[in-house]
Amino acid sequence: MAKYRIALMPGDGIGNDVMDAAKIVLDKLALDAEYVNTDIGWEFWCKEGEPLPVRTISTLKECDCALFAAITSKPKEEAARELAPELQDKGLVYRSPIVRLRQVFDLYTNLRPCKAFKGNPLNYRDDIDLVVFRENTQGLYSGVEFHPLPEELRGVLDILSPNMTAFQGIASADIALSTRIFTRQGCQRIVRRAFEYAKQFGYSSVTLVEKPNVIRETSGLMVREARKIAAEYPGIELWETNVDAMAMWLIKNPQNYGVLVSSNMFGDIISDLAAQLVGGLGFAASGNIGDNFAVFEPTHGSAPKYAGQYKVNPTAMILATKLMLDWLGETEMGTRLEQAVARTIAEGKVCTYDMGGNSGTLEMAQAIADRL
Ligand code: NAI
Ligand code: MG
Repeated sequence: MAKYRIALMPGDGIGNDVMDAAKIVLDKLALDAEYVNTDIGWEFWCKEGEPLPVRTISTLKECDCALFAAITSKPKEEAARELAPELQDKGLVYRSPIVRLRQVFDLYTNLRPCKAFKGNPLNYRDDIDLVVFRENTQGLYSGVEFHPLPEELRGVLDILSPNMTAFQGIASADIALSTRIFTRQGCQRIVRRAFEYAKQFGYSSVTLVEKPNVIRETSGLMVREARKIAAEYPGIELWETNVDAMAMWLIKNPQNYGVLVSSNMFGDIISDLAAQLVGGLGFAASGNIGDNFAVFEPTHGSAPKYAGQYKVNPTAMILATKLMLDWLGETEMGTRLEQAVARTIAEGKVCTYDMGGNSGTLEMAQAIADRL
């Protein structure tokens, strides 16, 4: 029996292209793993009315972790129109499978390293090494939202919050509410993961990115919990920043920062900013990590216009594979893989279109595999 059982979720669009690239690298590494292909994505929404079939969740439960490539999501009306005729008018609602995977498996850490590889023509600077820890299950993306604002909720809010006077005289039908729910445990566990990472990899600070001066209760809770956790890590400083200023500082002096930690939406935004500093979507990888399961993926989507052309940059997918190896404890392989990526980029001979070259997806993957 193989040491690991790993689910592969290519999804659709360029998902298949970059998953094929990841397989080239995994085969070369000869990781002792059994790979299980699973169904996810647009095709299964259209055919079955479910982009994340129950059988996929069952398979994932029998695996150590998963590699996910990309899927297409379309707005409500379009999604309904593309359903198979027999599934039309059944009240089926499309929900993002990746958001659901994060919830089903409680994958509360979104790990997004953004490292500049020397020689990458898309780098903003060559000395950037940022690692964003984004809370992945709570906050503004938890889906507790209302429009119109229900009267019973409005009544309670009017009584409990003096600040509701700002909305006096506005009809509930004209008010939308998205909640930002933080829990103490939610704050603690993401901050702890960031500090543990800083300790493991020798970073001297962790930067908390929030907005406690304005969002006093949720960001405030995160800051208070972070201070307590920081006290447990003597050699590592906690830097507290506001998200708006941080966006500016990350452009001005990205080399001054290392590990960043933030809530769901702020973390989403600053990690995209950080990713663009080191080459953008072709280089941005992430891990959705819980206590017992994890799903690794490139940050990019299915880029339908390039689907099946084997043209896009596989580096993001391959760096997601590196994150998976590290998480499995195969850090020696993970390091070798990153070094092979670094060498391929530094040599500059094999480049995909986004880097100004004309090599294909599999050619780039093969170049990386050759340098392993
Ligand atoms: P996208 O990330 O798919 O592509 C945007 C553009 O970025 C592409 O047209 C291409 O120019 C470039 N790009 C993306 N990946 C690249 C790569 N590996 N190498 C080189 N260039 C690359 O985002 P878009 O167009 O907004 O969304 C397309 C579909 O993907 C939508 O249906 C969207 O919902 C879905 N999506 C899925 C995600 C996921 O699977 N986690 C994440 C983001 C979007
Ligand atoms: Mg995003």
